[in-house]
Amino acid sequence: MIEIIAISGSLRAASTNSALVAALAANAPANCRLKVYDGLGRLPIFNPDDEGERTPPDAARLIEAVTRADAVIVSCPEYAHGVPGGMKNALDWLVSRDAAVGKPAMLVHASPRSLYARAALAEIMRTMSFAMYEEGMLEIALLGKKPAEMEAILSEDANRRAMREAVRGFAGFIHGQT
Ligand SMILES: Cc1cc2nc3c(=O)[nH]c(=O)nc-3n(C[C@H](O)[C@H](O)[C@H](O)COP(=O)(O)O)c2cc1C
Repeated sequence: MIEIIAISGSLRAASTNSALVAALAANAPANCRLKVYDGLGRLPIFNPDDEGERTPPDAARLIEAVTRADAVIVSCPEYAHGVPGGMKNALDWLVSRDAAVGKPAMLVHASPRSLYARAALAEIMRTMSFAMYEEGMLEIALLGKKPAEMEAILSEDANRRAMREAVRGFAGFIHGQT
């Protein structure tokens, strides 16, 4: 069983990115288990002085979860042409550890825009030595949709298939990395 940690970069209750991540978890192929990380909003602001023995418990839990997982999936909005602070903060806690090094990672997209954030996130995660899965790409346009509309879109057969195929392709990549 491949264990994947899935992170939404949005804290919004009706987040499109969180809806996508939840739908990916529900539609993963049988050999993959997606666990949604929900601690983004509890992480303190990264401070290099608080590493090592001083690592705050919530940051330690994130580091442990990423370390234990076989791979990571991120779905993240764009704020002012950049990566939202909460998402960047979570990544900053992982920078000077081994958690990210060689860890397979895939970006998925809930917005057909947000091209700056996509590029920035890919650059940040490459720099952190995540093994980025660049071949596969999943975009399901949920931008501006309300929860009921999102649910309808995410339960369409074609989208459920696309989600399953995207994770299946990623699973193949993960196998190739180990
Ligand atoms: C403060 C703020 C800034 C934003 N800036 C951008 C932007 O620069 N480019 C863009 O494509 N969308 C931008 N958006 C729109 C969000 O990326 C979009 O609403 C996205 O769906 C939010 O993700 P969520 O539904 O998961 O919360 C911005 C939204 C907010 C709240």
